[in-house]
Amino acid sequence: MKFSFSIKTLAVAFVMGMATMTPVVGDDTPLGKEMDEMSGALKGLRKAETWADKVALAQKGQVATLNSLKHLPVIFKDIKDEAEKKKATADYKRLIGLTYVGLCELEMAFLAEDEDKADAAIDKLKELKKEGHRAYTED
Ligand code: HEM
Repeated sequence: MKFSFSIKTLAVAFVMGMATMTPVVGDDTPLGKEMDEMSGALKGLRKAETWADKVALAQKGQVATLNSLKHLPVIFKDIKDEAEKKKATADYKRLIGLTYVGLCELEMAFLAEDEDKADAAIDKLKELKKEGHRAYTED
């Protein structure tokens, strides 16, 4: 009995050790998970059949965007200079904020059942994604 407990303890300690050794990348990070949510919501638009479904997806994206503000890009841990980190943090919040605005514009376009306005909002979101990823992701 005592033996099996200690094997179990060892196994748990091993698994926990592995977890802390695993490098944190992409959707391993809390921010990566929110980004995946946002991306999934936008991809879902292709299959959405009604304006109401599209509105719901834009709102899902908005929630993920707001949640993204609770986190910082994983590469920020490499910025040692405090002033530089503050600047990057402010800029990160600015870009995520604009992404939220873009998703609200997308929601408004869907509510107005206006495909042209929806396309314009999606183009804006693609630009923001490009800018954010160029500045704050490793690849
Ligand atoms: C519509 C806009 C956007 C979409 C659809 C999007 C989508 C994604 C996706 C799919 C990932 C990969 C997650 C994974 O590895 O599974 C990701 C990662 C990431 N995105 Fe975005 N993104 C958007 C906008 C932005 C913006 C504006 C920023 C910065 C201000 C940003 C910063 C990041 C960062 C830093 C990561 C890496 C995760 C981490 O550092 O923890 N993204 N994004």
